[in-house]
Amino acid sequence: MTIDQIQKIGVIGAGQMGNGIVQVAAGKNFKVVMFDINSGALDKGLTTISSSLDRMIKKGILTEDAKKTLLGHISVTTNLSDLKDCDFVVEAATENIDLKLKIFKDLDSVVKADAILATNTSSISITKIAAVTSRPHKVCGMHFMNPVPLMQLVEGIRGLQTSDETFTLTKTLSEKLGKTFVESVKDMPGFIVNRILMPMINEAVYTLHEGIATAASIDSAMKLGTNQPMGPLTLADFIGLDTCLAIMNVLYDGLGDSKYRPCPLLVKYVEAVWLGKKSKKGFYTYE
Ligand SMILES: NC(=O)c1ccc[n+]([C@@H]2O[C@H](COP(=O)([O-])OP(=O)(O)OC[C@H]3O[C@@H](n4cnc5c(N)ncnc54)[C@H](O)[C@@H]3O)[C@@H](O)[C@H]2O)c1
Repeated sequence: MTIDQIQKIGVIGAGQMGNGIVQVAAGKNFKVVMFDINSGALDKGLTTISSSLDRMIKKGILTEDAKKTLLGHISVTTNLSDLKDCDFVVEAATENIDLKLKIFKDLDSVVKADAILATNTSSISITKIAAVTSRPHKVCGMHFMNPVPLMQLVEGIRGLQTSDETFTLTKTLSEKLGKTFVESVKDMPGFIVNRILMPMINEAVYTLHEGIATAASIDSAMKLGTNQPMGPLTLADFIGLDTCLAIMNVLYDGLGDSKYRPCPLLVKYVEAVWLGKKSKKGFYTYE
């Protein structure tokens, strides 16, 4: 397959990452099918895209006509077989290994044989995901950052079985989407970004848990003291505390080192379904 043959992109999951990927792909004139098991999530995903485009119109960087054209490229479905003729699929469902293995098995059976199946997983083994398909050489890690329309990076991860052709096409597609592609040469838990970022966030939660400082002080200290645009607890709320916990568990299980032990306070917040911005409560509350 060549890059010009990629015309139709499927996106699995209409959450924060999924709807962002859909917006960016539709904005580059790809036909995009957004799939979710939850029709409410599809409605919410479309509303989020529409509001994001309205903000761009307000800033004068998009016209009403361009918004209409972009939205015209998007279709939504709760029926996986509607992705059958996609040339490239990006999976962005909840960070859970069993769920992703099931999705890839199902995708493999419905999507045409020469299509590439990429995953936006933050930490789970690409090699393991690829192994449940009949086309492991066509499976690749394609890790977008949040919020997708604004963030420059796509982290590319080769599974053990990923072919050079698949990896190169994923890189070229990322560039066509306006992103900069950075390669993680080895498929190890957390890849590059979350191998470094998540332990820092987890340590910030320990700092709160041990009563060393308030959430606001921890964030101010890291913003002003290390020149980060937002503090680690705010960032955790934006990422989603369930996603942060899932990534810490992958690091802890996959690398077998106690330094990756998820902070008990992070576990408690997820048990309380205080997931951050998406549930309106995390380390901070949101309207
Ligand atoms: N949040 C971030 O900052 C971030 C950044 C990079 C990568 N990621 C990764 O992106 C993926 C999605 O994260 P998110 O933040 O968008 O999560 P989210 O909770 O906002 O959305 C997940 C979506 O997946 C849907 N879903 C659940 N099971 C499904 C299934 N079987 N089939 C289809 N859809 C299903 C849910 O209905 C929901 O709409 C995860 O793998 C995560 O690790 C997240």
